[in-house]
Amino acid sequence: MSDLVIVGSGIAGLTAALRAGRRHRVTLVTKGPLLDGSTRYAQGGIAAAMSPDDSVEAHIRDTLRAGAGLGDPAAVAALCAEGPSLVGELVELGVPFDREDGELARGHEAAHSVRRVIHAGGDATGLAIHTTLITALRAAPVRILEHAFLDDLVADGGGVRGVRLLGPNGAEVLSADAVLLATGGAGQLYRHTTNPPCATGDGMAAAARAGARLRDLEFIQFHPTALAAPGSPLISEAVRGDGARLLDADGRRFMPDAHPDAELAPRDVVARAIAAVMARQDGAPVYLDARPIGADRLVRRFPSITRMLLAHGIDWTAEPVPVTPAAHYVMGGVATDVRGRTGIRGLYAVGEVACTRVHGANRLASNSLLEALVFSARAADDLDTAVGWRARPAGRLPEAAADGGERVAREQIQKVMWNGVGLYRDREGLERAQELLTGWRAGGASVADRETANLLQLARLVTAAALARRTSRGAHFRVDAGNAEGFGRVLTGAARTAVPAC
Ligand code: SIN
Repeated sequence: MSDLVIVGSGIAGLTAALRAGRRHRVTLVTKGPLLDGSTRYAQGGIAAAMSPDDSVEAHIRDTLRAGAGLGDPAAVAALCAEGPSLVGELVELGVPFDREDGELARGHEAAHSVRRVIHAGGDATGLAIHTTLITALRAAPVRILEHAFLDDLVADGGGVRGVRLLGPNGAEVLSADAVLLATGGAGQLYRHTTNPPCATGDGMAAAARAGARLRDLEFIQFHPTALAAPGSPLISEAVRGDGARLLDADGRRFMPDAHPDAELAPRDVVARAIAAVMARQDGAPVYLDARPIGADRLVRRFPSITRMLLAHGIDWTAEPVPVTPAAHYVMGGVATDVRGRTGIRGLYAVGEVACTRVHGANRLASNSLLEALVFSARAADDLDTAVGWRARPAGRLPEAAADGGERVAREQIQKVMWNGVGLYRDREGLERAQELLTGWRAGGASVADRETANLLQLARLVTAAALARRTSRGAHFRVDAGNAEGFGRVLTGAARTAVPAC
């Protein structure tokens, strides 16, 4: 029996804790309440090949195709093959997935060749999974520490030996045989994001400081349809899967000109097409017209989105909804193998913080909950061997806090990243972003200060990765690569910064 610290309380952290708690002494640490984080905001659902007209092979094919040739076949095979039984475990645990005629109901989302997205509460899948897992965790032999921020990993030549936390009672060190990072993504790098305010890349930054390798950070997924309003609330891709259409400011449908699959083209293609149309409209949002779905089904299938829109004064059964792209998911992260091992002794990473390369350059819709489920279970099962790995010792990287000149605010980083390292990139914009980010420093000892330092550190790494990849691939689109899509050519210089204006 080992001592394990799990950092993060989304689907990845909770799954790992429930599983590892059967055999190890587990402490689960999270910087807010257990229900914080991105999991609860996942709407569309969880993709798994669980019906007779689907197959693991088809799911593998779709995932690899969406990943634009950079998906790792072994990771994708594990994801698609092991997903169905783990989703079955969620059913047994009590997640109230929606049913039709007694069978699991299945939604459709972009770039899936069949309907395979299993959902709960219509459009509240993440919340249903999250609350069910939290109930199970509260009954499990796991110590829970809420409101405890991961200040840093405790690491030395022998590997990672614990965590340093900033908790309600100040600084605290927890020693452990292994630490599993399940801290989620870093959408707060961007001015417009579907992610909650806590998505500040704390685990990625701490792992980098401890000498872990981060990779593929240039691949940031922008969701095509966030409501054009402060906070960029998500409007699920499943809405387009059900028949909603995208219109420009003059009410013209534009996706059929951009891709043969129109509104159901891969997510990166739709997001860029929207951004290009918005640039031509001086930054004004495009519209999602969900009326073809029909009022009854719209309200029944998407009750949370309906409520959210009504709170913004929009009745989508009667009018199109103004939408813009927003940063949504980081495909890159802490490099791991398919068991969550980072290569540093005693350090695991799973879920969005990690990069198994399962998503390649562009994640297939609704594969993120599945990824968290599959690889956290795999990592938890691997823990028995954690102490004995042959792995690199940890190192120490300088903190972003220490260097540079002017002290930076989160909003400054977000603006620079949105304008220079966003949906459309070129060398000039990336170098300008790099110059600004290098000239800043982050300081202060509060949790908010430490989050800003993590964002600054990651922003520099994302920008460097985007500069280094000089060709376009998946979500990383270089306008200056000479292979711009038709609608991409308009987006240089000032036009790029006009997207979007909410
Ligand atoms: C959505 O419902 O569109 C989001 C699902 C995802 O990001 O996979």
